[in-house]
Amino acid sequence: MAQLTDPITFGSLTLPHRIFYAPLAGCSDFPFRKMSAKYRPALMYCEMVKMDALIRHDRGTYHILDYSPDMHPIGAQLCGSKPQIAGQAAKIVEDLGFDVVDLNCGCPVDKVTKDGSGSGMLKTPELIGEVLSNMVAAVKIPVTVKIRAGWDESHINAEEIVKIAEKAGAKAICVHGRTRQQGYSGPANWEYIKACKQAADKIHVIGNGDVLDGPSAVNIREQTGCDAVLVARGTMGQPWIVQEILNYLQGVPLQPRSLEECRQELYEHFIHIQSYHHDHKVCVDMRRVGCWYLKKSTGTRQFRELMSRAQSIQEIEELLKCAEEADRK
Ligand SMILES: Cc1cc2nc3c(=O)[nH]c(=O)nc-3n(C[C@H](O)[C@H](O)[C@H](O)COP(=O)(O)O)c2cc1C
Repeated sequence: MAQLTDPITFGSLTLPHRIFYAPLAGCSDFPFRKMSAKYRPALMYCEMVKMDALIRHDRGTYHILDYSPDMHPIGAQLCGSKPQIAGQAAKIVEDLGFDVVDLNCGCPVDKVTKDGSGSGMLKTPELIGEVLSNMVAAVKIPVTVKIRAGWDESHINAEEIVKIAEKAGAKAICVHGRTRQQGYSGPANWEYIKACKQAADKIHVIGNGDVLDGPSAVNIREQTGCDAVLVARGTMGQPWIVQEILNYLQGVPLQPRSLEECRQELYEHFIHIQSYHHDHKVCVDMRRVGCWYLKKSTGTRQFRELMSRAQSIQEIEELLKCAEEADRK
C-alpha cells in the first residue's frame, strides 16, 4: 500500500504527496490560499462556484477563482446539476489554468440542494454520471468529484456513486464520511470511506472528515485504505497543518507553534486580506480569521472576543499588536 508521503497520479497530473486542502465556501479564498501555498499541500481547492454563474461570465464568480502561480496545483469546484452546461463550465475552469476540476455533490445548504445541486445530487446518482461524463469529455485536466456518504442514514449510496463516477471517467472521488442530514456535526463515519475504497477499481478514493493532525491522517488511511486525505476545518488558522502531518509521517517530533509564531502567521494572513479586499470586507473577514489562529493558545479568549467584534482596521492592528505584547509579558 502506498504511503501518504508518496506521489499520486490523476491522469496527466502527478501530485508530490497525498495530503490535500479542501474547498471551504466563505473561507478558502485568495488570502487563505496564499497562506496555504507557503506550506505546499499536494493540491488545494478554491471555494465552490456555480456552473450557471460561470457560464454567464459573472464577475464575482470569476473573482472567487482568482489565484496566483504559487497556488499550483490548484483545483476549482463546480456546483450545478445541469449536464448541458457542465462541459462548458469545466472548459472555462481549464482555460483559466486550473490543474483539476471538481464536482460538488456534498453541499448540504437548502438553497443549493433545492434545485438538485450539491448533496441534492446524491438523490440522482445517474445525473452525477451524466454531469461528470460531460465534464470529462470537455477537458484534458483531471475531473474529480466530492460526495457525502448519502442523503441520510437510510439512504447511503456512496459505493454506487463511486462506480458511476469511475465509469464516467473521474480520476478521484472524495468521500466525506457524513450524511447530508448530519451537516457538519457528529463524527465522520470512516466505514463509509472504507466501503468506497473497496468498491473502487481504478478511481482514487480521497478520505475526508475529522482529519485534524498527523495521528488522524494515519488512522483514516489505515482504517479505510483511502489513497489520499483531504483536510478541511483542520486548515483553518493552521495553514501549516500539511507540514505537521508530513513530519508526523516521517517520525519528526511535533513542535507546537508558540503564541508568537501563531500571531505572526495571523498577521501575515491579515496583510494578504488587506491587499486583496476593501476595508469593510477586511474587518468582516478578520472577525472570523482572527479567532482561528490563536484558538489553541491559552490566555487568548479576550483577544478573540474583541477580534470578533472589531469595527475598524486600526482596531484590528491594535489588537494584533497587543497580542504580541501580552506574549512578551
Ligand atoms: C465553512 C465550510 C465551508 C465548506 N465549503 C465547502 C465547499 O465549498 N465545497 C465542498 O465540497 N465542501 C465544503 N465544505 C465541506 C468540507 O470540505 C469538508 O468536506 C467537511 O468540512 C468535512 O471535513 P472536516 O471534518 O475535516 O472538516 C465546507 C465546510 C465548511 C465547514
